[in-house]
Amino acid sequence: MNELDNVPDFVIFLGRFHPLLVHLPIGVLIIGILMYFLAKKEKFQHLIKSVPFVLALGAISAVFTCVLGYLLSCQGGYDNDTLFNHKWLGIGVTVISILAYYSSVWVKTKKNNLVNSIIMVVIFIGLGFTGHLGGNLTHGSTYLTQYAPNPIRAVVGLPPKAEARLAVTVLDSADLYLDVVQPLIANKCISCHNTDKLKGNLLLTSHANMLKGGENGPSIVAGNLKESELFNRITLPQHHKDFMPPEGKRPFSDEDVKLIEFWILNGAKPNGLLANLELEDEQIELFENFLGLKGTKSNSLNAVVNPADSTVISALRAKGFKIKTISNTSNLLGVTVPYGENKAAKHIKDLLSIKKQIVFLSLNSLNIKDEDLKTIGQLELLTKLNLHSNFSISSQGISYLTKLQNLESLNIYNTQVDNEALKTIANLKRLKRLYVWNTKMTQDKVEVFKNANKRLIVSYGVSAL
Ligand code: HEC
Repeated sequence: MNELDNVPDFVIFLGRFHPLLVHLPIGVLIIGILMYFLAKKEKFQHLIKSVPFVLALGAISAVFTCVLGYLLSCQGGYDNDTLFNHKWLGIGVTVISILAYYSSVWVKTKKNNLVNSIIMVVIFIGLGFTGHLGGNLTHGSTYLTQYAPNPIRAVVGLPPKAEARLAVTVLDSADLYLDVVQPLIANKCISCHNTDKLKGNLLLTSHANMLKGGENGPSIVAGNLKESELFNRITLPQHHKDFMPPEGKRPFSDEDVKLIEFWILNGAKPNGLLANLELEDEQIELFENFLGLKGTKSNSLNAVVNPADSTVISALRAKGFKIKTISNTSNLLGVTVPYGENKAAKHIKDLLSIKKQIVFLSLNSLNIKDEDLKTIGQLELLTKLNLHSNFSISSQGISYLTKLQNLESLNIYNTQVDNEALKTIANLKRLKRLYVWNTKMTQDKVEVFKNANKRLIVSYGVSAL
């Protein structure tokens, strides 16, 4: 049921000027009150002559404001009690301001002066209360106190602020309702569906109320999109009169709708971690985008691994391998392979024994061949690979590195690698640094490639060794 159906549009059109016009009587009456009290001082005595004029202006604008306010209330959707109080307080203030005008032009006696002062104070307080209730009607009663410090909340009888939810850093630890659905609804829907502005008799401030629904029954039915009025309303064509949010407010994006759809289909529960749900790739991407986790997936440098076998490490060190853990707290390894006539191929095979730990690898000037890179291509944790001055390596060798999806830095200085390798490199999605000095790559092609891969920094110079 549309509450606007029985009221002529024009009435509501006029009514909506109420929140605008209301500032006029408030401002004018307060100035009148201020002038009245200031005039009690000798220096400002002359102001008293203008007080009746200002009060008259305030009273007249207050009458108009009341009329518009009444028209606005016809559109419905307000909390009845608050509306009742706001209406009668507003009318009261208006009547008293008319009295104040007459009182201010009457003959002055001492007694009359006292009455005037009391009237002024009453108008001032009345304006405050009426305005506050009006604010509650438009913004919801928690508008003012929502961001108030806890001591102030305690004074007005509110519970301490709910602890803000910690930012989600890992997809699995996100709560489907609390971290995804609730913020979406809070952002776009709560302004009209709260305890004071109960549009469609629907409260969207809590999970229970959301399920309970409004005039037309439950707004969410777990597992059933068709029966979920809320879902219907956000998926109607945008110009449909029942579309939510209405009145040209920014609608949910297609992605937002998919997230809500996923929640409903998965039982519309009040809480529950994503870790316990089965997500398809497309959904993972949706959630990651929504939660701002895109591209922050921790790289292999954060991986927690078992330490490498110490006898293996000793044996490698005995052969001249330089091996270090990357930090005091990590078992991951950085390795430099020693130079040895014709031993390079064998040395490289040795690396497989620590493939679960190795993240940095330097193969500088070892005269390794394309074939050897087949082995390197199995070291999937590598984030940094230095192939500097292996003069016979070509694009063929680079093509064996496609599985190195953790790779962030690749140095191919002084090799035969040409533009062909850019195809492989394009698939190294984490790559941030590429060193290409003295290769067969051409700068024009590399520049085009770089522009298409904004995350990439390409180094052409010798300086970045
Ligand atoms: C500008 C105010 C406003 C906003 C914002 C708003 N709504 Fe509404 N909503 C209304 C009004 C008015 C009604 C009652 C008229 C109607 O049924 O269309 C209503 C009715 C509804 C109903 C039907 C309730 C029932 O049982 O009849 C649902 C469901 C709903 N809104 C969902 C939403 C959702 C979801 C959002 C956020 C995307 C939203 N609304 C945002 C004003 C609003």
